[in-house]
Parts: sequence; structure tokens; C-alpha cells
Amino acid sequence: MSPPPSAAPAGVSVGAWLHDCALARADALALLRELAGVSHAGLLANPERLLEPDALHRLGEAAARLRAGEPLAYVLGWREFWGLRLRVGPQVLVPRPETELLVEFALEKLAAHAAADVLDLGTGSGAVAIAVAHERMHARVQAVDRSAAALQLASDNARRLLSPRRAGGALRWHLGDWLQALARADEDFDLILSNPPYVGEHDVHLQALRFEPRLALVGARAAADGLGEIRELVAQAAPRLRDGAWLALEHGHDQGAAVRALLQAGGLVEVHSRRDLAGIERISAGRRAGGPRAA
Ligand SMILES: C[S@@+](CC[C@H](N)C(=O)[O-])C[C@H]1O[C@@H](n2cnc3c(N)ncnc32)[C@H](O)[C@@H]1O
Repeated sequence: MSPPPSAAPAGVSVGAWLHDCALARADALALLRELAGVSHAGLLANPERLLEPDALHRLGEAAARLRAGEPLAYVLGWREFWGLRLRVGPQVLVPRPETELLVEFALEKLAAHAAADVLDLGTGSGAVAIAVAHERMHARVQAVDRSAAALQLASDNARRLLSPRRAGGALRWHLGDWLQALARADEDFDLILSNPPYVGEHDVHLQALRFEPRLALVGARAAADGLGEIRELVAQAAPRLRDGAWLALEHGHDQGAAVRALLQAGGLVEVHSRRDLAGIERISAGRRAGGPRAA
């Protein structure tokens, strides 16, 4: 195989670039589409089409980043979540499709036309908060993160993706440590959601995830079982649920039983987990007793 096209030799066809780029086919097709304006159909119809030199240069740089292990979302600068194109960068976790389970849970609990106070803890790119605000016009959504850079990106995403009224008014952003970030210590909620850091501090997968922020993966309360941040989050969040309100958390594939135990220890009822499409326990939830059942 000829060397990957890191420089920009003249006269490289789309088909030759695809053949020689040493990338997964899906990644290579995404780069061709985004950086050279070549669709899959265009490629099939005319693989001999020559790439423009500047497109070839962009493709070479992007391909080198991918081969070094950087996520495609950082290379492209965006990732789709709940049908919304979120800007992402190394200051935030790349939103994962399985986190859409948390949004599905929220939409089930939030009636379409009712006002409700919703909190997204550890918002990162804003994925969960923005998706919920997008789907539930009357929800008052607040979001917290310990990273100022993440919050900046999240609020930029909201401004681009939501109507001015939603992005500016009904969504609020707070910098700090879980619920301590909120101005009022007595503020309570109808629904609290979180995809918190849950990777164990010695987890072997951290090497493959090295481009994403450690604060997002492991958190500042690093623990071998990955539950350091979740323990603190449940302790802070459970007392801030209104009667009948739900707390729902994403967690690791083997953490379901431990998270259910934490939710029960926090005094919540109807504690249960939900599985993702692969059959893995992916989120766990519990509600404060009393009030109307929201489900
Ligand atoms: C796993 S990422 C989730 C990001 C986003 N919600 C998503 O699903 O793509 C966890 C987020 O929690 C934030 N975080 C970590 N520790 C925190 C803390 N103690 N208080 C608030 N946010 C925290 C991180 O900065 C990161 O953005």
C-alpha cells in the first residue's frame, strides 16, 4: 500500500484517496463528505474525480489525526445527538448515542405542555439539556458543569440550536460542583438527569479515551469503582427532588446494582434500571415518594 496522503501530492482521485488513506471506511467517507464535499453517491458515480489540492490537504491533516486515535467528532468539530448537530471539542465528552436513553426517560416523565423544573448535572456539550429543552417547550431547564469551557460550548450550542426565547430564557447554566453550583440551596426540581463521570480511575479503557477530558470520564473524585462522583451526586440531588420527582443517571455496564443501592439509600422509591439496545443496564432511576406519579 502506498503511504497515507499526509502531504498534498497533485492529481489524487477520490477513489485512490479512499483506497490509500488507511482509515475505517465510515470515517473516510465522513471526511470526504465533510472536508471535500464528496458524497457517497458521488464517490460511487465518479471515483476518478480528482481532489482539489486544498481539499486534499484538509483530508491529509484530518486523516492523520484520526490515525493518531482522535475521535472523529473532534476532527469534524461536531456530533449529532437527538437529531441535533452539537459542536464539540476537546473540552467536552463526545455525546454518545446511548445517552439518548436519558432523554427518552425525561420525555416520558415530562408531559408535553406542562411547566416543569429540570436539572441536567454535568452537561458537557449541553447534549441532554438542549435535547430536553428542544422537545419540551414549557420545561425550565437548568444545567450544571464544573468546567467553564464546557459551559461556554453548551451555551453556544443552545444559542445555535434553540429558538432565542428557549436558549436565552428558559435554559440556564451554572458553573460548579453538582447542586452546589446553584444559587439557591433550597431550589428543588421535578426531574434531575445526569450522565456523570463513571469510569474507574485505573480502567484500561482510559488509554483509548485519552483525547476526552478526564474530568468528564473519571471526575475529580476518582475511585477504583468509578462511583466517586455518583455517590456525591446522589447525596446532593436526592434531597432536592420534589414529591414524586425522578432522578435518573447514566452509568457503566456493571454499575447498575451499585447505583440502584445508592438511589435506595438516598430514600428514593421505584428504583429500577433500563437497558440499552445491546441489552446493557445503562441508566438507573428512582423517585421521591409522594406527589402524583409522573409516569
Ligand atoms: C460524562 S460527561 C457528560 C457530558 C454530557 N452530559 C453528555 O452526556 O455528553 C460528565 C460531565 O460532568 C462534568 N462534571 C464532572 N464532575 C462534575 C462535578 N463535580 N460537578 C459538575 N459537573 C461535573 C464534566 O465536566 C463533564 O462535562
